Amino acid sequence: MRVLIVGSGGREHAIAASAARSRKVEKMYCAPGNAGIEEFAECVDIGAMEFDKLTAFAKEKAIDLCIVGMDDPLVGGLVDEMEAAGIRTFGPRKNAAVLEGSKAFSKALMKKYNIPTAEYESFTDSGKAMEYLETVKFPIVLKADGLALGKGVLICQNLEEAKEGVKTIMLDKKFGTAGNAIVIEEFMTGREVSVLSFVDGKTIKTMASAQDHKRAGDGDTGLNTGGMGTFSPSPFYTKEVEEFCEKYIYQATVDAMAAEGRPFKGVIFFGLMLTEDGPKVLEYNARFGDPEAQVVLPRMKNDLIEVAEACIDGTLDQIDLQFEENAAVCVVLASEGYPVKYEKGFPVFGLEEFKKHDGYYCFHAGTKRQNGQVVTNGGRVLGITAKGKTLKEARENAYAATKWVQFENKYMRHDIGKAIDEA
Ligand code: AMP
Ligand code: GLY
Repeated sequence: MRVLIVGSGGREHAIAASAARSRKVEKMYCAPGNAGIEEFAECVDIGAMEFDKLTAFAKEKAIDLCIVGMDDPLVGGLVDEMEAAGIRTFGPRKNAAVLEGSKAFSKALMKKYNIPTAEYESFTDSGKAMEYLETVKFPIVLKADGLALGKGVLICQNLEEAKEGVKTIMLDKKFGTAGNAIVIEEFMTGREVSVLSFVDGKTIKTMASAQDHKRAGDGDTGLNTGGMGTFSPSPFYTKEVEEFCEKYIYQATVDAMAAEGRPFKGVIFFGLMLTEDGPKVLEYNARFGDPEAQVVLPRMKNDLIEVAEACIDGTLDQIDLQFEENAAVCVVLASEGYPVKYEKGFPVFGLEEFKKHDGYYCFHAGTKRQNGQVVTNGGRVLGITAKGKTLKEARENAYAATKWVQFENKYMRHDIGKAIDEA
């Protein structure tokens, strides 16, 4: 088969590495890809939002399967356009990707179908939102309705901060049109767990659990980022938690989408908060997590292409999804200053070391090739993943492997997966 992957981050590198293990794949392309993905796929210089060019390319190369990794093209309807061009594509159509694309939609869905989540109200009028804030308990959470690179969530401690937040999102439009509507929701406390799943419109199969570290600094301090590291499985995702989610969240979400005439095919990522009152949905994403994919996919025993095809064909019930009985940790190597301001273009050394060790992966997030040399090209540069028999061993292995790679202004957190010691 001829496969096209759309995206350019560590997640797409992990998808490409997983797809490359499939016996079914004879040729892989990635648009636009990065310097690491080149190992598995021919990278083509087409942006993920250049739908016309992507569909034309897919037709020209007779692509048998397109896998869309990123949220923007999914929410924008790339799957619909690929399908209209006759290309089989893994990912939700536009009317289902709204599960991630609009928080007002997903909150209303959860309310309508009794799926556990934080109490909330949504507004399209900033004046009404401000008025409502006079009646709430603090802290309170403000969420821009649309996609905002994971940055459209503000946790406000008092009325003044919250009003400023509404202004930032709805009037100053800090997150663009994502702020045309706002969700104001109850602040929850507890452990966060990410559960990714494959969905074929009616059947859902969950993958091994994971946990992300979103803040830039050690001890969960500093600004929110796209994710500084992950581990899988989460020891807090117990059998009991899983059973609760199976009963009230997973299938309920898939059924709700089908009942709304928006059958979901692809990956649903459940961002869960394990509260004192039980697990609740923090958010849905309509794709693999980044960097969750970097710890979940290396542990998956199945052929990713087979699973993706089963999702498209509606035969996921016939797939026995299996994960290795081990653990994985991913430590992101970022550019100092991320997520605010950082320099790019520094040469990266030591990458060849990963070829010598089984169970170690160096997923490229922000890199490019310049005169034959791999150089840094983003805030998050690499995701260093290692497996181990236990989470502790995986963490030690991952941190050991972070030393193999050098580049100027290399920055990382030193406590990825540390919470597992408390489990
Ligand atoms: P989201 O993009 O909705 O996952 O939000 C990003 C992050 O904000 C989450 O991973 C949580 O850490 C935090 N967050 C979102 N919603 C809430 C909430 N209702 N209560 C507490 N923290 C939240
Ligand atoms: N790591 C969180 C996300 O992919 O949204």
